[in-house]
Amino acid sequence: MRLTVNGHAHDADPRPGQCLRTVLREAGWFGVKKGCDAGDCGACTVHLDGEPVHSCLVPAFRAEGTEVTTIEGLSGPCRPGEAREPTHPVQAAFVAAQGFQCGFCTPGMVMTAAALDQGRRQDLGDALKGNLCRCTGYGAIRDAIAGIARVEAPEGACVGRSVPAPAAPLVVTGTARFTFDIPEAGMLHLKVLRSPHAHARIVAIDTGPARAVPGVVAVLTHEDAPPRRFSTGRHEDPRDDAADTLVLDPVLRFAGQRVAAVVAETEAAAEAGCRALRVTYEVLPALLDPARALDPDAPRVHGETNLAAEVRGEVGDVAAGIAEADLVYEETFTSQRVQHAHLETHGCAGWRDADGRLTLRTSTQVPFLTRDALCALYDLPREEIRVLCGRVGGGFGGKQEMLTEDLVALAVLKTGRPVKWELTRQEQFAATTTRHPMRVRVTVGAKRDGRITALGLDVLSDTGAYGNHAGGVLHHGCNEVLAAYSCPNKRVAGRAVHTHTPPAGAFRGYGLSQTIFALESALDEVARRLGVDPFALRRINAVRPGEPLVAHSLHPHDVVFGSYGLDQCLDLAQAALAEDPGPAPELGWHVGTGMAMAMLDTIPPRGHHAEAFAALLPDGTYRLRTGTAEFGNGSQTVHRQFAAQALQADPARVRIEAADTDAVGHDTGAYGSTGTVVAGQAVHRAALALAEAIRARAAERTGVTPEACRLADGTVETPKGVIPLNDLAPLEASGRSNGSPRSVAFNVQAFRVAVHPVSGAVRILTSVHAADAGVVINPMQCRGQVEGGVAQALGAALYEEVALDGEGAVATRTFRNYHIPACGDVPDTRVLFAETDDAVGPLGAKSMSESPFNPVAAALGNAIRDATGARLTATPFAPDRIFRAVAAACDLGERHPVSDQAR
Ligand code: FES
Repeated sequence: MRLTVNGHAHDADPRPGQCLRTVLREAGWFGVKKGCDAGDCGACTVHLDGEPVHSCLVPAFRAEGTEVTTIEGLSGPCRPGEAREPTHPVQAAFVAAQGFQCGFCTPGMVMTAAALDQGRRQDLGDALKGNLCRCTGYGAIRDAIAGIARVEAPEGACVGRSVPAPAAPLVVTGTARFTFDIPEAGMLHLKVLRSPHAHARIVAIDTGPARAVPGVVAVLTHEDAPPRRFSTGRHEDPRDDAADTLVLDPVLRFAGQRVAAVVAETEAAAEAGCRALRVTYEVLPALLDPARALDPDAPRVHGETNLAAEVRGEVGDVAAGIAEADLVYEETFTSQRVQHAHLETHGCAGWRDADGRLTLRTSTQVPFLTRDALCALYDLPREEIRVLCGRVGGGFGGKQEMLTEDLVALAVLKTGRPVKWELTRQEQFAATTTRHPMRVRVTVGAKRDGRITALGLDVLSDTGAYGNHAGGVLHHGCNEVLAAYSCPNKRVAGRAVHTHTPPAGAFRGYGLSQTIFALESALDEVARRLGVDPFALRRINAVRPGEPLVAHSLHPHDVVFGSYGLDQCLDLAQAALAEDPGPAPELGWHVGTGMAMAMLDTIPPRGHHAEAFAALLPDGTYRLRTGTAEFGNGSQTVHRQFAAQALQADPARVRIEAADTDAVGHDTGAYGSTGTVVAGQAVHRAALALAEAIRARAAERTGVTPEACRLADGTVETPKGVIPLNDLAPLEASGRSNGSPRSVAFNVQAFRVAVHPVSGAVRILTSVHAADAGVVINPMQCRGQVEGGVAQALGAALYEEVALDGEGAVATRTFRNYHIPACGDVPDTRVLFAETDDAVGPLGAKSMSESPFNPVAAALGNAIRDATGARLTATPFAPDRIFRAVAAACDLGERHPVSDQAR
């Protein structure tokens, strides 16, 4: 068939059942993304005869004779791979507002926005309902479509200005290269047969029928895989996670676990090979309820006990604190299993390079730790493995795991050919990691004046079938939640247990969102019962500089108050909430306000390292090499700012090469809110060292002192005249950071909501978020992180849930039945920053990646409580749950939900 793509005739011979998306990608139009292949996310949006369509839903043959425009051709005819300028007005607007973070959704979003007429722009919630973004919270996207610019020129100082992301022109033209935006010719495709059982032993696998499928090159079973156990969870110290996983395991511990892999010339052949495998299972009893995990007769997941991790400790005397309290409040709160739902699924392509090195291009937050894990697994020295990333389409902690690289590496080693494995959205939901579901029993004792005398947490965390992040999440989740308060008596009893369910893992907030929901809800109830304003209760009890940071035992020794902005955050959020009454509610809706706070020790404990190199090149530009992946965290934006500031250069003069194990010696990875404060620190130190080297060389050339030489953009000014930078090249310097000491960051979220007591519907009338991020290096970028964190947390608070069926298999496998917030679901959040200057972080900065998520569920629950009298003790706050809670509150006489006048 013939069609026109981006102004040029294109001949295609589609396979039966092929969709337009894959035809376009096979032709090299990589701006057409794959997010779901189900018509839900819009990442594959193109124009078909001028109309925006989800190309994954268009049968390829229907495109015959049509004119197709992809993001690459939006500003005019072009050929695949051609460099483009963002000259279309919508592309320019997305650059000006930085309407993206990871940028994976952006091509589709731009294509939809470009097709909107003025009327549709008035109702963006409806107009963008077919395009999902997981990173931005839609605020910057709405600004872009409204023509509001957020970016600023550097104007001398680079730090503190909203300078654009280096990749902005590439992202909005669809020419930024994500993991799979590479030619596939000659690659084998890997597919996996997954367990239908929550617990089973593989008795036999007949691979013959699969091997007989035309195009199948190899079938891999547990007999082909190394017998070495590892953890998919990645940390600087591999001992942080239990080594309990095999590449292919003859014992299956959750429905969805890998049974065997088929490697074939095409995806279809690999899928057919999987269907042809004949597996005999011995089905074993399964444990699905974490509350039963420690019963003596509970089925065992690994070895003798289902206890994966435990944390216990007490400071002061909680019993005495309870005895002296005027009010004691106890309640149990539960948080559900939710998914990261980054739009780029997990995946990896592997091959041997010209020197025979195993090379993996992968969607990860931790390339160096992945390389090290592969070295251990396959007994290869570091020099024999290279791991690199393209641009990564979102992470949120989900890519602090090795979920595909181990099997792709095995396939490359076995076949000697390039191999690709990209998870489908269904696999992403069914077989990757989630947030840890938690049950948290809270005990609070308080005096009449609001002083807290005792805090207790009893935590049960369900880590699922494997122990990746079980201990880390439990420890972290029980830590800052209590350390944020200066109460003298605190106690924690926490256990993480195994079940035969999909493994939980690292997730934005790393355990704190669940415990903060519990404690901040409980404190709101205490404030309400004592008649104390909830902001005041926090002011009375929050930890202050100079006080020890204590959770349930001594806090890690390297956490310090590099700065303190919680007091400002409380003031800012309270004032902003009071200033903005929001729209008037309709009759029958109840209005209430609520708030919650959160503290985060930035940087994971037990070592986090980064190295960076800054070089002056012969053309007078700078090259920065780092190990950090850019997955929407903005690390490359702020790294360039740090370098430009130290070198007194225009940021455009600094080019970044990142996320490649060949680039630097080591980088622990972009997790635990470290991209700015650890890798950024290394970058800043490298750039300062390079600046010193440049001044030294200029001084040597001119016979003056280095102190007399001043760097400018493109030159060095000396008392003897101006030297162009290229005259002083080449020069290189390095910088390192070990992430210690660590500082603390704070967040306060406040909402005004309207709740309909009969339908259980919640409308957010006002949303305010105050953040203490130290010196805000890039306000636009940081605001985007906060807006995105609040939006993601609203999804988790209101409706997201990875539901399991009665057999323990994930039932919610599409975006259609796992609802992440769309544009129309997310209110504008007013973002305010405390003015602090951190003594620890680079140029006064603190992190602000994961922490905005943490106080949202509690603040929302507290607002619903204020509106209706109903205390919600479980997320998500689904309408039926709200209805039942309101009805129960009504029975208790808290408030009559129907006859009360809306306030
Ligand atoms: Fe939209 Fe990442 S920027 S999904």
